[in-house]
Amino acid sequence: MDRSKETVSTLGRMPSTRRHWSRAALLTSVGLMLAGCANNAPQDIFEPKGENSKKIDTLQRPVFYIAGVVALIVIGVVGYAMWKFKDRGQDIPEQTHGNPKLEIALTILPAIILAGISVPTVITVFQLDKKTDAECIINVTGQQWWWEYDYATGQCGDVKIDKPIVTAGELVIPEKTNVLLRITSRDVIHSYWIPALNGKRDAVPGRLHTLRMQADQPGIYTGQCTEFCGLSHSRMRQAAVALTAGDFQKWVDNQMKDYVAPEAGSLAAEGEAVFTANCSKCHQINDLKNADGSPVLSEPDLYVVPGVAPNLSHLMNRTAFAGWTFDLLTDECRVKLWNAKPADFGAMYLKGITPECFEQVALRDWLRNPPGMKPMFVDPNNLSSTGGKYRGMPNLNLKPDQIDQLIAYLLGRN
Ligand code: CUA
Repeated sequence: MDRSKETVSTLGRMPSTRRHWSRAALLTSVGLMLAGCANNAPQDIFEPKGENSKKIDTLQRPVFYIAGVVALIVIGVVGYAMWKFKDRGQDIPEQTHGNPKLEIALTILPAIILAGISVPTVITVFQLDKKTDAECIINVTGQQWWWEYDYATGQCGDVKIDKPIVTAGELVIPEKTNVLLRITSRDVIHSYWIPALNGKRDAVPGRLHTLRMQADQPGIYTGQCTEFCGLSHSRMRQAAVALTAGDFQKWVDNQMKDYVAPEAGSLAAEGEAVFTANCSKCHQINDLKNADGSPVLSEPDLYVVPGVAPNLSHLMNRTAFAGWTFDLLTDECRVKLWNAKPADFGAMYLKGITPECFEQVALRDWLRNPPGMKPMFVDPNNLSSTGGKYRGMPNLNLKPDQIDQLIAYLLGRN
């Protein structure tokens, strides 16, 4: 009996249940792939909204088409070979060893295609890396699991920034302005990505990487950390908000405005005391004072691994919190803002979180038990590996009335 023939025929047959499963898997994956083509997906890489992302788009489209044609040819040839030489009980075909002509052709052809693609690729990479035309510089620092933005003093487009601005999660930039982000990390490697405005840039501890940003018109452009960075990598999100020069000036003015203390005796005033006693260990609120008039200064370096926590001075001017993962806006208000026409966007955004649009549930849950919403350390009771410091926000065991007071206080931080 011809043993090799037997082997061929065994390999050629798949049990029918497995065939059903592989068909189902194929259909599911095609379905999922097509779902990615949905219109208006906020992180669609084929919907560039700025100069740099348009350059990438101009490059990636022809590359995708060429790769698509190559893929179709390869799939076609493989499919034809599978059909043509399917085991029908015939003898094993004549065995050959090498075909120099074909091998040389199949080496030279891809080399020509790759060389052709490399020319516009290298040109685009250099264009995207240009730093000399920056009109605004913003420092971006990643840590587990949120982004901090630190606006240095100086010009940002047409607007002058007099005092440093520190914020988190939501990057606010003037439209039609070349913004240069200086990106680094305080702990592990993260990666900054706002698909509508540019490609990805790694945030690496001890290194400074730059990324150009430019948005054509006012709007909100969302993104996420794209380098696996620990337990809550998937909950490390971000957004860039573009405003007209006039609206950006208003945003900067609001960041500069003096601290507004809650009315004495109010629920919010009780919240201020709860904040000072608990939250201010890590979170700074600018110009917050102790009862004796001395400034309340946070010392997050004593309590958390990266040594920082988000500045909450203007929390209610951002639309999401905790790594831009949980909404501060109700669904209705968020959809309105995200779909606003560019001409109406700025005024709507600058209102901040109004009491009618405030989604309290997530923030209350967060204050009750942060690690329950966003896993931050494997064993919250064992801090020996981090020198007694927490990763992210620990559970402060706040009482329900303290949470009511804090919510009232934080709602005034706009
Ligand atoms: Cu930070 Cu993933």
